[in-house]
Amino acid sequence: MMPQQADKIVLASGNTGKIREIQAILSEQTIIPQSHFNLPEAEETGQTFIENALIKARQATALCQLPAIADDSGLVVDALDGAPGVISARYAGAHANDTENLQKVLQQLGTTPMTKRSARFICVIAFLRHPADPCPIIAQGAWEGQILFESKGENGFGYDPIFWLPEQNCSSAELSPEIKNKLSHRGQALQQFQHQLRHSSS
Ligand code: IMP
Repeated sequence: MMPQQADKIVLASGNTGKIREIQAILSEQTIIPQSHFNLPEAEETGQTFIENALIKARQATALCQLPAIADDSGLVVDALDGAPGVISARYAGAHANDTENLQKVLQQLGTTPMTKRSARFICVIAFLRHPADPCPIIAQGAWEGQILFESKGENGFGYDPIFWLPEQNCSSAELSPEIKNKLSHRGQALQQFQHQLRHSSS
């Protein structure tokens, strides 16, 4: 029988930006990045954020024999038919870095006017208590914004410098980590996850 509250959770991610944000929000649990176990990155073969989050969490719980959490997230741009979507981390190629990926989004959008540059960050959190867990916890967050014409701000990671937040009047790379965690897709999904974990019976 699994404990009601999982104290130690493996985090199936090698992305230092994500690890930092997830550890800051999930302060009630001990979050151990999968790098501590030398786990390989799972192959993200799913077509949706939900599928990929489950694939990553399942591999981590199977190999570490601890409950595991995974985040699959990305940027969805309306004018690009939802791209980069699930391939956000490798939009400009398998080994592309954050700058190359965001430059590709800017180049694909070209002179598309601001009124047509709507986008959102999506985050799906999947939590499996063990590899055969038939009732994973799934939580999802969405953060609405627009794609800028050039980078702005130094904080965060990934596409943050080109993600404009009209209500905050700044890019997400100009927010402090604390404010970003309160507002972001990941912050929303993790709050929801905490709530579901506290109320889960298995
Ligand atoms: P994956 O979930 O590891 O497949 O990759 C997610 C990718 O989406 C990251 O590598 C970033 O490029 C992008 N992304 C996800 N969340 C954020 C965020 O909070 N800020 C900026 N980019 C993000």
